[in-house]
Amino acid sequence: MSTTSTSQKPEIFEELDPSPRLLMGPGPVDLYPRVLRAMSVPIQGQFDPEFRRYMMQTMALYRQVFKTANQQTFMIDGTARAGLEACMHSIIAPGDKVLVPIFGRFGHLLTEIAKRARAEVISMECEWGQVFKPGEIADAVARHKPRMVAMCQGDTSATVLHPVDEAGEACRRHGAILFVDVTASLAGNPFETDGWKVDIVAAGLQKCLSGPPGIAPVTFNERVVEILMHRRHIEAGIRPVDMVEGNGPIIQSNYFDLAMIMEYWDPKALNHHTEAASMLYAARECARAVLEEGLDKGIARHQLTSKALRAGLEAMGLGIFGDRKHLMSNVTGVVIPKASKSPDKVRAELLEDFGLEIGTSFGPLHGKIWRIGTMGYVCRKANVLRCLSSLETVLRRNGYKAPPGAGVDAAYEVYDDAQR
Ligand SMILES: Cc1ncc(COP(=O)(O)O)c(C=O)c1O
Repeated sequence: MSTTSTSQKPEIFEELDPSPRLLMGPGPVDLYPRVLRAMSVPIQGQFDPEFRRYMMQTMALYRQVFKTANQQTFMIDGTARAGLEACMHSIIAPGDKVLVPIFGRFGHLLTEIAKRARAEVISMECEWGQVFKPGEIADAVARHKPRMVAMCQGDTSATVLHPVDEAGEACRRHGAILFVDVTASLAGNPFETDGWKVDIVAAGLQKCLSGPPGIAPVTFNERVVEILMHRRHIEAGIRPVDMVEGNGPIIQSNYFDLAMIMEYWDPKALNHHTEAASMLYAARECARAVLEEGLDKGIARHQLTSKALRAGLEAMGLGIFGDRKHLMSNVTGVVIPKASKSPDKVRAELLEDFGLEIGTSFGPLHGKIWRIGTMGYVCRKANVLRCLSSLETVLRRNGYKAPPGAGVDAAYEVYDDAQR
């Protein structure tokens, strides 16, 4: 028997009205206002010629963002992880060897996805906050001759940016496919798909592109297309009569089948899925925003902002986590001072009293560092100064006394120097 009273009306809750926040964690971050506006324009169906034009424009824009001539440059609907799954499941056949260099949490995620694709996974791990020594990844590729090398460029959990070009060379030499996850780094750090011989790349919008999580830009070259064509399969009901099936093992996932999605994005317009139209508009506007600023100018803005933030944190007597030569320009790991009584209370007070979100950390770094993001629209002087002064105040209330004003003064100095 139901215990719900029939006289009680089911609740419909209040209209959404989220408190204003400044999102300075490791992502998501605040959206460019123009991206929010783009998401509110009317949607169209994915076969409307006008909408097809927006799709083709989005492809062309992301070729510029990814620095590639790859025809196959498009969106996977879903968060960044959807892009990773599509790229990995579409290439890896059961039993394939996959080499995963791990230097943070997201390397473990790539290992997990490869295992679920029933790969024989060879993982190599270095201490979080460090990168592999030159030659280490190339040696492992030569030794194991994997089908695929899967790695992150920037791992937000460890705040470091890994060189990718060495892996690109090694993969070409030994016939492997190089897959790189640039979710956390794209548009805030230099990246060259073609120049660094990266075969397949996946990203997300919610970091330096300052868009909403929910759509994943990917790009891949003809080496990947060849693999996909061997695994080509289209479900009955939409399969063209003259279609030739691939002779390789079928891709396990229908939704994440890059061979089909490729045909959905080309003039054949295969009816694979319903486009997440508002997300496509967001992706298109994010790319327009970063390209209008200029990729190099945007990267320089991220570099200057993190330099100012780090100078401020150090002037407050706080340590910066990770190998200084390899830090990402958009996420800073701050060593939690011993004198601060409760790291979680510091974050909670920043959020509740100052409306400012910073990030905690995972695995071996849990309780050791906070992570502060300076990405995309958030990556600005005013936010750095606001973050430093709020943090100084909250730390003082929680047992750690930084020299008053030193953080903001040091950050100002970096900005003043950059003007000279
Ligand atoms: C490097 C990296 N890869 C993948 C992801 C997963 O993204 P999502 O949570 O959008 O699926 C993240 C998210 O923070 C990330 O930083």
